[in-house]
Amino acid sequence: REKQRQEGVNLMELSASFFRERLRMPEGKAARDYLHARGLSPEIQEDFAIGYAPEAWDALKRHLGERGVSESVQIEYGLLIHREDSGRRYDRFRDRVIFPIRDIKGRTIAFGGRVMGDAKPKYLNSPETPVFHKGRELYGLYEARQANRHLERLLIVEGYMDVVALAQFGIRNAVATLGTAASETHLQRLFRLVDEVVFCFDGDRAGRQAATRALETVLPLMIDGRQARFLFLPEGDDPDTLVRREGEAAFQNRITCASPLSEFLFEQAAEGRDLGSIESRERYASQVLKAVERLPDGVLKSLMLSELASRTGVETSRFEALLNRHDTASA
Ligand code: UTP
Ligand code: MN
Ligand code: MN
Ligand code: MN
Ligand code: MN
Repeated sequence: REKQRQEGVNLMELSASFFRERLRMPEGKAARDYLHARGLSPEIQEDFAIGYAPEAWDALKRHLGERGVSESVQIEYGLLIHREDSGRRYDRFRDRVIFPIRDIKGRTIAFGGRVMGDAKPKYLNSPETPVFHKGRELYGLYEARQANRHLERLLIVEGYMDVVALAQFGIRNAVATLGTAASETHLQRLFRLVDEVVFCFDGDRAGRQAATRALETVLPLMIDGRQARFLFLPEGDDPDTLVRREGEAAFQNRITCASPLSEFLFEQAAEGRDLGSIESRERYASQVLKAVERLPDGVLKSLMLSELASRTGVETSRFEALLNRHDTASA
């Protein structure tokens, strides 16, 4: 298994160097212009090893073939697409800006590729391979560790561009999930490195839904001493557009002011309810209780119950009794 992994990593490194070289060559001009237009300096492009996949159907395939990499391995690692119906084989990444995804040790394990125009899909990602598991890997984690001697917190954003743009502005602790929701595995990995995570999704409906899902996912991981906070961006912004408009200091300030989990949880339960009627308070309390139930036993859980009690005028012990009843019911 380790040997197969090594072979896969070598293949991915060969491909990453290929993409980087192509960005420097005449055929990479449009990609260089694109990156420049998006405000990414050559230094930051270097830090993230950004590259360019040429337009041809077989540029990488031939490059790897000349270096003895069989087509079947290229297919297995998601670089070459094999169409069963026609039997055609062609490069997955063509005429795209390439973002290498590196594991925690800096080994390239996958790629994301962005179109420069408005063709669909906007981003193309490596499929699951023997070395790449979307539910585990975070874009930018290696780079964040490289840039910081000691990481205190990590910022979780949606996109490649968000990670790179924030880094360009000196905010070098952002990571992105890869077109999937933040999984429990993702968050476990981050909490092994830092005590605090800040979720910062796009200022749109999808981003707010992602925050709600992230709250659900993070609850069971909230042992005492850990912190999770939620940063909501203005409608229509993502971290990339916002940091460009406002600059580093304003963005850092938003991070400092991000809502703690407890605040977000209570606010979300209150949303759309007037809390003037017993029935709406009942639904409010039930929703909070359902979340609190998922917290591990600890000080945070106790404080959340006391807070719920004071907000609803019900004694804490009554809520505790309800929680215990659920425990035995589900056991
Ligand atoms: P966004 O659509 O918010 O893209 O998707 P973005 O990162 O802001 O990209 P720019 O600024 O237009 O370049 C967020 C993330 O979702 C994944 C990618 O990881 C992307 O960075 N995604 C999005 C895909 O995997 N495929 C897509 O077609 C679109
Ligand atoms: Mn620490
Ligand atoms: Mn979005
Ligand atoms: Mn976005
Ligand atoms: Mn964007």
